[in-house]
Amino acid sequence: PLYQKAQYLKSVPTLDLCPEDLKYEVAFAGRSNAGKSSALNVITSQKSLARTSKTPGRTQLINFFVLDEERALVDLPGYGFAKVNVKVKRAWEAGLSEYIEKRPQLKGVVLLMDSRMPPTDIDITMLDWTQHLELPVHILLTKSDKLKKGPAKANLLKLKKLLKEEYPHATAQLFSSLKREGLVEVWNKLDEWMEY
Ligand code: GTP
Ligand code: MG
Repeated sequence: PLYQKAQYLKSVPTLDLCPEDLKYEVAFAGRSNAGKSSALNVITSQKSLARTSKTPGRTQLINFFVLDEERALVDLPGYGFAKVNVKVKRAWEAGLSEYIEKRPQLKGVVLLMDSRMPPTDIDITMLDWTQHLELPVHILLTKSDKLKKGPAKANLLKLKKLLKEEYPHATAQLFSSLKREGLVEVWNKLDEWMEY
């Protein structure tokens, strides 16, 4: 119910242009096409709050969706998308890194990974980096509708083992935007970070 109130506020390229009055933010990060914007729409029960697309690289700015006067969900551009021009890509990556590194309001990162594949190098870099920043991470193994229950569970357990051994700042769950699976678990994590 809280998350249904999400409203688009604004999109900015860099940290210095981020809204000032917020106190709690949770950002959605992950590879291009992982399903960040789709997850945001399902979590907020709104069909087209965040723009989604079959073409990777849809989300190109830091997008703020406010829940109330102090809280917001943030849709980030995907990383690892090579088709845009190198200069443009470097500029986003710099903007994105600065936001994650220097935004005190950022209480946690929801990291989207494809449930069918092992974490990519860039996902691991993200885990190393957030650990260094002491920034909690909650991983959504997405598109779980594309796997049978057994293999999906096996992939989750494998990931959880890695997290337990190397990334104790991170938790993980299965998620499907298509089937709206895993919603309660992700809402609970957001409540915790947002101090609802
Ligand atoms: P960028 O903004 O480009 O970084 O991508 P994104 O991570 O925001 O991905 P987006 O939500 O736009 O989804 C990418 C594609 O994956 C779209 O075609 C979605 O319909 C599809 N998709 C997203 N989530 C799921 C899911 O849970 N299941 C299935 N089957 N498809 C999904
Ligand atoms: Mg997107």
